[in-house]
Amino acid sequence: MQTSAVSNSINTLQTDFLPLQGTDYVEFYVGNAKQAAHFYKTAFGFQSLAYAGPETGVKGKASYAIRQNKLTFVLTTPLTTDNAIADHVYKHGDGVKFLALKVEDATDAWQQTTKRGGRSYMEPLTMQDEHGELVMSGIHTYGDTVHLFIERKNYQGVFMPGFVKWESQYNPTETGLLYVDHCVGNVGWNQMNKWVKFYEDVMGFRNILSFDDKDISTEYSALMSKVMSNGNGYVKFPINEPAEGKKKSQVEEYLDFYNGEGVQHVAIATHNIIETVSELQRRGVEFLKVPGSYYDTVLDRVGQIDENLQPLKELGILIDRDDEGYLLQIFSKPLEDRPTLFFEIIQRKGAKSFGKGNFKALFEALEREQAIRGNL
Ligand code: FE2
Repeated sequence: MQTSAVSNSINTLQTDFLPLQGTDYVEFYVGNAKQAAHFYKTAFGFQSLAYAGPETGVKGKASYAIRQNKLTFVLTTPLTTDNAIADHVYKHGDGVKFLALKVEDATDAWQQTTKRGGRSYMEPLTMQDEHGELVMSGIHTYGDTVHLFIERKNYQGVFMPGFVKWESQYNPTETGLLYVDHCVGNVGWNQMNKWVKFYEDVMGFRNILSFDDKDISTEYSALMSKVMSNGNGYVKFPINEPAEGKKKSQVEEYLDFYNGEGVQHVAIATHNIIETVSELQRRGVEFLKVPGSYYDTVLDRVGQIDENLQPLKELGILIDRDDEGYLLQIFSKPLEDRPTLFFEIIQRKGAKSFGKGNFKALFEALEREQAIRGNL
């Protein structure tokens, strides 16, 4: 149920050297994985999937895999101080370490990308247990973030070797989250085009949309963004860089507090954003709010929609339209104390774009939060 292929797929004329089957999982390095897993289960409705740690023969770390439909998160924490995971948490706070991509052949994915200039994070590694074998490889991307390539066609276990099924007495109901729609990276000043070229050259992605500071600026701050998509459109990585404004931009604030480049937001699809967001708010998830006046004129801009405006307004859900349809979206507040990673919840009704028409209202809402934190 991924969005369909982006039109004019590069695959029509040439073979995709890095065929991706979608996002396999997103792994976060966090200060306390046990509590993080409880939070994502309670607030977002994830289900317990698998656990790895000292009890399962894994040294130095504990990992909890949780799942909802096709959306899998792994929450990993260091158990000792002298540990690369501990260094990552010290430097960045809680954040995304791995954007793991599902492939048919993880060895070929590593060879294709490293021969095109990708910097290896791990050579292809075959991991085995009684449920079969799983091959994993990886390359570095922006900041300390890594793309793993996961080949699981010969693996039937619950998640991957090293993990055991996580049986829990505590199973909050799901909230309708389906899969990763897109995942956005914030990069440093003048670094956007370098990373656009990386995704083009090393991973065979294509730049499908661009926004400059004229599209995305408010009185105070600006950013530039380019959306990179793989051949079949299953994997989309927009990349932001800060632009000059009167005051500090939201991307700069992120770079300061994350202490470098990293994942800004993960956008998660739902089939019913009103039900999903109502449930998330009931469970305590906080979202950015645009002024009520946004809804006075929004239908003039986007035209007729299937939903009633009133629940959208009460929940703070934003609307935008492109040539192919419309979309409904909302952005959470940061998920940790540092103003870094947040989530977007998105329901696409034909639209394949990213909500450009909402940028101004949204960034003004972000800046109000920034100002409260004293970072504007
Ligand atoms: Fe987004």
